[in-house]
Amino acid sequence: MKKTTLLYEGKAKKVFLTENSDLVIQEFKDDATAFNNKKKGTIADKGVVNNAVSCKLFGLLEKHGITTHLVEKLSDRDMLCKKLDIIKAEVVVRNIAAGSLVKRYGFAEGTVLDRPIVEIYLKDDDLDDPLMNESHAVALGVATLDELAVLKNRAEAINAVLQQFFTERKLMLVDFKLEFGRHDGAILLGDEISPDTCRLWDLETKEKLDKDRFRFDLGGVEDAYSEVQRRVLELD
Ligand code: TMP
Repeated sequence: MKKTTLLYEGKAKKVFLTENSDLVIQEFKDDATAFNNKKKGTIADKGVVNNAVSCKLFGLLEKHGITTHLVEKLSDRDMLCKKLDIIKAEVVVRNIAAGSLVKRYGFAEGTVLDRPIVEIYLKDDDLDDPLMNESHAVALGVATLDELAVLKNRAEAINAVLQQFFTERKLMLVDFKLEFGRHDGAILLGDEISPDTCRLWDLETKEKLDKDRFRFDLGGVEDAYSEVQRRVLELD
């Protein structure tokens, strides 16, 4: 399958139309941004890592009956996907307190949550992706109540699969962000799951092995991404 026209360029990926109107190609870039584009940089080979990790994890989810937009990995940086009508929501699942949960509610970083917390944010960079509840999402026309229930259930099911997978690889799945879209009357998981969109800590040392190394200038960014790739892909 070949790229035809550029449909959209985001902060970390380009999306191309293809000869098949039902399929798009996601091209993963090395560009990195944080804090809604306020911090910018590049992470060498990030696109290669994120494509490989995302394809592996989407394949794993499919094996567990969770439908995703993945069709196949085309090359180092290219993923062939079903074209989705993207739902303008970012669904975040948290197992351990970190990031904005710590800032917003005062949890101590590292607190293990009794039950996962699921949050939805409005996907709108101009508004800085505000946290929203179901009433906001329905009022804004983001999704119906039924669709929101599907998103929450799906996010919890994905969390269960990924938590087990990462634990086996000696990684703690602290939190992660998901995006979904509509396709032929169904809701599919879209976008990516990678060290850009997850917080992953080494199970023993609690070392951060994700984009927080870039966000907070912790150093060793490339090494952390390749260590995640190694554990996800090589330890099978
Ligand atoms: P947060 O603690 O900053 O709200 O982030 C929660 C999780 O979501 C974390 O794993 C990083 C991920 N995330 C994204 O993938 N994209 C974003 O724009 C934000 C804010 C967070």
